[in-house]
Amino acid sequence: MVDAQASQRNLQLPQSSRDQRVENEGTEAVKFQKDKYLVVKGLLDEPLLGTIYAHAVKKSLSGSMALGDVQVPGTPSCYGDTFMEMLLELFRPRLERLTGLKLHPTYSYFRIYKHGDVLEEHTDRPSCEISLSLTLGFEAAKPWPIFFEVDNQPVPAELLPGDGIVFRGTELKHWRERFGGVRHGSVFLHYVDQNGPYAEWKYDKQRAFRAQARRVLAYAAGNILRALTSTVMASR
Ligand SMILES: [Fe+2]
Repeated sequence: MVDAQASQRNLQLPQSSRDQRVENEGTEAVKFQKDKYLVVKGLLDEPLLGTIYAHAVKKSLSGSMALGDVQVPGTPSCYGDTFMEMLLELFRPRLERLTGLKLHPTYSYFRIYKHGDVLEEHTDRPSCEISLSLTLGFEAAKPWPIFFEVDNQPVPAELLPGDGIVFRGTELKHWRERFGGVRHGSVFLHYVDQNGPYAEWKYDKQRAFRAQARRVLAYAAGNILRALTSTVMASR
């Protein structure tokens, strides 16, 4: 069914544009396999981008989110938000083309960072083998870079709202230095390689019925969302 939808999207593009996109994504997959990361500009745009950022900020101000985790204490964060779970499925086909891997979704996580926050250097757990960090929006004078250690050198990635970076979360150390702005929203979408060593972490090993049912509904909604935004996605 997914392949059929992809074919339908491709039919909306002129042959030359389709060939060019496939060629570009193939080149990017080679780059990802070599570098272990890939910046993806304009992965998400309006009106969905603003809607999701507004949802994230509103939820962070509602008092319903966890206030921090081990990595960033005191900052609102949320595991498995239904809206963000939809993005897992929305982006999965494109991320498969960009990485050259068949992917299982694991989980989503978002944070609304605040002034003074720091993300300490770390690598991620197995469920984050392939991770996308997507900037939803910010209130700051300039983009807040996320750094990666590549060949023992820090490599900054400055992401505008809607930009993302896909990377090997279990392998590449990553961090953020002190945030000087007011607010910064990021969502992390995590996957595992279907043919890799962490495939068993599909759906983050959520076996409880309610969690599984929620994910199934979110993935179904993600497919619908992808169909609705197919014109936007096809134009990339
Ligand atoms: Fe991380």
